[in-house]
Amino acid sequence: MLNRGFLLGLFLIALFPSCVLGKQEILQNESLSIQQIAQMVEHSIRMEAKNGFARRGAHAKAHGCVKAQFRVLSLPDELSSGIFSEAREYPAWIRFSNGADKVQDDSVGDGRGMAIKLMHVDRSPSGTQDFVMLNHPAFFVKNAADYVEFQKALAIDNPVKFFFPDLNPLHFRLHELGIVMAIRSKKVSNPLDIQYWSATPYRFGATAMKFSTRPCNRTAPALSTDTSSANYLRQNMQEHLDRDDACFDFMIQLRKRAAEMPVEDPTIEWSEKASPFITVAKITIPAQQFNTPEQQKFCEDLAFSPWHAIPEHEPLGGINRVRQTVYEVSSRIRQELNRASERESAGF
Ligand code: HEM
Repeated sequence: MLNRGFLLGLFLIALFPSCVLGKQEILQNESLSIQQIAQMVEHSIRMEAKNGFARRGAHAKAHGCVKAQFRVLSLPDELSSGIFSEAREYPAWIRFSNGADKVQDDSVGDGRGMAIKLMHVDRSPSGTQDFVMLNHPAFFVKNAADYVEFQKALAIDNPVKFFFPDLNPLHFRLHELGIVMAIRSKKVSNPLDIQYWSATPYRFGATAMKFSTRPCNRTAPALSTDTSSANYLRQNMQEHLDRDDACFDFMIQLRKRAAEMPVEDPTIEWSEKASPFITVAKITIPAQQFNTPEQQKFCEDLAFSPWHAIPEHEPLGGINRVRQTVYEVSSRIRQELNRASERESAGF
C-alpha cells in the first residue's frame, strides 16, 4: 500500500527534482566508461575461469551465505518509505566476502563485504531487495572515468599509478589513497563483529539515504578471534554460529544538507553530526551450519546487486550507474561459464 509519506515524496520530486534529491550529474562519456569497465571485468572473469571455475569480478571469496530474518520496525512517517513503510519481517540471505577479485588468504589487507538479499519483495523486478555494503563509510573511487583509470593501473599490475598518475602533484589522488589505506589496515577477525556501510546513496522517498549495519551486542566479547589460518573469517563465523545467534541493527542516514552530502561522489562521507544513522530494522542470523560444500556452491551461484531494488530505493549517482551494467555482466558471465542459474528462492 502507498502511504502518505510516499505520495508526498513523489509530489515533491515532481515539483523540485534537483533541489530535493540533488541532481544526478551524468558526466560526459560516462556510458563509454561503463562499457569499458564492463569489458575489462568480463575479460578478467573469462581469464580466471580458465582455472576451472568462474568467480565474481570482485568480492570473489565468500566466507559464507547465511540465512537471516530482517525485521522492519514500526516507524514514524518521515522514516516510512518503500521497504520501511510497513512493520514486517522478510526472510533474507546474507553473503559475507573479501573485496579482491581473487581468492586469497584472509590476512591480506582488503575490504570486507556484506550483501543482504530480502526475499519475496513483490514490487522489485528481481523479486528481491538487495543491500550491498563494505566495511568502510566511503568508497575509494569518485566516478566512472576514475574507475577506468583504476582498472588500467591494475591491468599493468601497478595500482600505485592510479594514485600517482604522473609527476604533477595536482593529479595525485591522495584523498582516495587515504581511503584505501584506511580500509586495508582494518583488523577484522570475524565478519559478524564489524560495521558495514553502503557508501553510495539510494533514493528514499523525496530525499536520498545511505545505509549501514552495526552488530547489536557490541559490548559482548567476540566469540571467535583466532586469525592463524588462511580462511579464519569463515571459521570464526562458523564457530560463532555453532554456539549462538548473531544480530545487526540496520540503519539509514537521510540526506539533509545537499551541499555537504553529495550524491555523485561516494568518496565523501556524509556527516553523522548533520544527520545521524537511525535504526529502522533488526537483522537476526540464527545459529546455523552454513559451512558445507552444498551451501558454498549455492552462495557462488547467487547474484546480489544494488539494482535488485524497488523504485523507492533506486540506486543514485555515477558509481551506482556503473554497477547497474557491471554486476549484470559479471553475474551473467560467471553463471553461463559455470552452467549455473540463480536459485535465490531455495531454502525459503
Ligand atoms: C564502480 C564501482 C564498482 C564496481 C565496478 C564493482 C564491481 C563489482 C563486481 C563485478 C561484483 C561481482 C558481481 C557478481 O558477479 O555478482 C561486485 C560485488 C560486490 N561489490 Fe562491487 N563494485 C563497485 C562498487 C562497490 C561499492 C561502492 C560497494 C559497497 C560500498 C561494493 C560492494 C560489493 C560487494 C559487497 C560485492 C559482493 C556481492 C556478493 O556478495 O555477491 N562495490 N562488485
